[in-house]
Amino acid sequence: MTMTMTMTMTKIKIDGSNAKFENFVSTRCKRTNDSLDKYLLVLVRGAPKRLGTAMQYVALGGGKRLRPLLVYAVGKAYGANLKALDAPALAIEMIHAFSLVHDDLPAMDDDDLRRGKPTCHVAFDESTAILVGDSLAICAFQIISEAKSLSAEKKILMSGILAKASGLIGMAGGQYLDLHEFGKKTNIKDLEHMYSLKTGALINAAIKLGAVAAGVNDKKTLNLLDKFGSYIGLAFQIKDDILNIEGNIKRLGKNVGTDSARNKVTYPVLVGVSKAKEKIGRLSGQAEKILHQLKIKDSILSELTEYIIQRDC
Ligand code: IPE
Ligand code: IPE
Ligand code: MG
Ligand code: MG
Repeated sequence: MTMTMTMTMTKIKIDGSNAKFENFVSTRCKRTNDSLDKYLLVLVRGAPKRLGTAMQYVALGGGKRLRPLLVYAVGKAYGANLKALDAPALAIEMIHAFSLVHDDLPAMDDDDLRRGKPTCHVAFDESTAILVGDSLAICAFQIISEAKSLSAEKKILMSGILAKASGLIGMAGGQYLDLHEFGKKTNIKDLEHMYSLKTGALINAAIKLGAVAAGVNDKKTLNLLDKFGSYIGLAFQIKDDILNIEGNIKRLGKNVGTDSARNKVTYPVLVGVSKAKEKIGRLSGQAEKILHQLKIKDSILSELTEYIIQRDC
């Protein structure tokens, strides 16, 4: 049986009839969307009106909310209080939204469609999009600092995780490598490294945030979670590459064929689509093994892993 759940504009399709997973995805997505909505209403008060509107346009306009889902899933697996997960879930989604706005800019990927709507710089203008990105990124730290359900120690740990994952040795560094240092001579190892930064770092950060919220501080567990994050992060970006070749523009809410139009060296370009698919399958198996080692009883993380492999948007 195939079930389709509507999550704002983007639809996440879940194959099978797993009511528990379906319920988890829909309730946590709603929770993320509602708190984003509420938080932004307060945040934009007193801000330049158009900048606030552009920020809401970007943050509230769809998206699968995968990173918040990971925060909630890891937090749940380790017994975190649901309220303690709201701020980190929101913060990581803000950083992710910022990364998308900047990723689409003319100086970067120059894309005009995102989450089924014109990209921010198209709907508004370029300087507004840059400032929306800046505001979203910085606001993530404001959310953490103002969180009522987190101790001072957890706030410091979470801020560090977000900063590291977004910056030079995280998303921004990976985006730089993607745009400036990749070409025909790229090898798989370098490509995987770049993916681990541009995409993997934020996915890994979501996992770490969930663990910190739950008070997990055992090194072995954190290392295993880190490995799990690396496997699913890499699988997620390779799938993104494949969807850019085979995906449906309506389902994806973004343009397809853009990587090839830009002569971008991606995973399927280096090894071919079918080998890229095999790689995703192997990564999912490796991720599952880690979950087994972690003895996580809850099946949500395993189902999210499966979703990353199977997704069509
Ligand atoms: C797209 O991320 C950008 C990548 C890191 C590959 P998502 O596929 O999670 O985008 P949304 O949030 O659902 O729009
Ligand atoms: C996105 O990479 C990575 C970040 C936004 C940090 P891509 O450029 O491959 O993602 P899409 O396909 O535009 O979403
Ligand atoms: Mg890009
Ligand atoms: Mg892009």
